[in-house]
Amino acid sequence: MLYVSKRIRFSASHRLHNPLLGADENRRLFGECNHIHGHGHNYEVEVLVKGQPDSTTGMVMNLRELKEVLDREVLARADYSCLDAPEGLLGGRISTTENVAIAVWEAVAPHLPVGALHLVRVHESENNIVEYTGPDAI
Ligand code: NI
Repeated sequence: MLYVSKRIRFSASHRLHNPLLGADENRRLFGECNHIHGHGHNYEVEVLVKGQPDSTTGMVMNLRELKEVLDREVLARADYSCLDAPEGLLGGRISTTENVAIAVWEAVAPHLPVGALHLVRVHESENNIVEYTGPDAI
């Protein structure tokens, strides 16, 4: 099996906050990330696709096509956005890095060949990284 990846970067603001919890509980859970004015990150997202090289092209997937999907489905919706916007990429989910990874998967997978998407890796910062292998993975 071959794994091919594309990396994109976007900048976005967010605030970790669960409206179902009170102010004190939110502060206890999320600490500084619950600050009322929010804060921003330069996110780095890696998307890995898997497969065998096509006999004609020699490619698992044309990275130009993958880039077009990522530009349209992720960057256009997330770059210079507030990730907490209900109409945004996360659709109102709490803007943890876990949920960013899930949202990227859900945005990208339908536009790739079935089963091609292998992993979404999101770097929220240099040291905070989340990997998601999809809803069907064990
Ligand atoms: Ni943050």
